[in-house]
Amino acid sequence: MRSVLGFLAVLLALVSAGQALSCIQCVSPRNPSCDGLSVSCLLDNVCGASYTVTTSDFSVVTGNYMRGCVTKNQCNLQGSISVINNVMNRIGVSCCNTDNCNPSFPTLPAVNTTFNELVCRTCISADSDWCYTKDTVHCTGDENMCLLQTTSITGAVSMNTALRGCATKSLCDLGQQTAENAGQKVDVRFICTSGTAGLYSGLTLSLVAILLTNII
Ligand SMILES: *[C@@H]1O[C@H](CO)[C@@H](O)[C@H](O)[C@H]1NC(C)=O
Repeated sequence: MRSVLGFLAVLLALVSAGQALSCIQCVSPRNPSCDGLSVSCLLDNVCGASYTVTTSDFSVVTGNYMRGCVTKNQCNLQGSISVINNVMNRIGVSCCNTDNCNPSFPTLPAVNTTFNELVCRTCISADSDWCYTKDTVHCTGDENMCLLQTTSITGAVSMNTALRGCATKSLCDLGQQTAENAGQKVDVRFICTSGTAGLYSGLTLSLVAILLTNII
């Protein structure tokens, strides 16, 4: 679970020096508000707030509120990722674009625990930008895509993480996000398939199971 949250958190940690907006940067693991220092953003960034919540069925397991500089394509983002059955990680982002402005509280997508047709591979790696297992997760609600998300941090502190699971298209549309801050480079990629081809759909999985049964 740690890796999943860390992954979402990286979205907002994209701070860099420049001559553009200044934004308050802070993290609050529990309260939906926080105080912090003002930092200057990259030219095309705005001030943003993100709220990520992990729910198991309908009960909230953990939440995380962050403020900082964000790329404009993250503004108004609402999305979710599921790596484990019945555990959904939801994120909402809101923005404003004056110096040290206070973004409105982000809206999270609604929880929908109804299964859709999609089944995705699932895995988590805390030390590699690749993972693959035979395990699967059944997708629910608007999570219509199978996601491979990789995070690569290089610099004085280096770290790679990867995960696979179900995701909303809104997260897939983020594509690649990179940022640099104090010599640390962060590279986050969202690689998705719609699950209609190859090994991802439930139908194909059961066909493979039947094939294997016959061979054995
Ligand atoms: C919940 O998800 C299911 C499966 O994708 C969908 O058919 C249904 O319309 C969704 N319900 C709501 C209230 O969005």
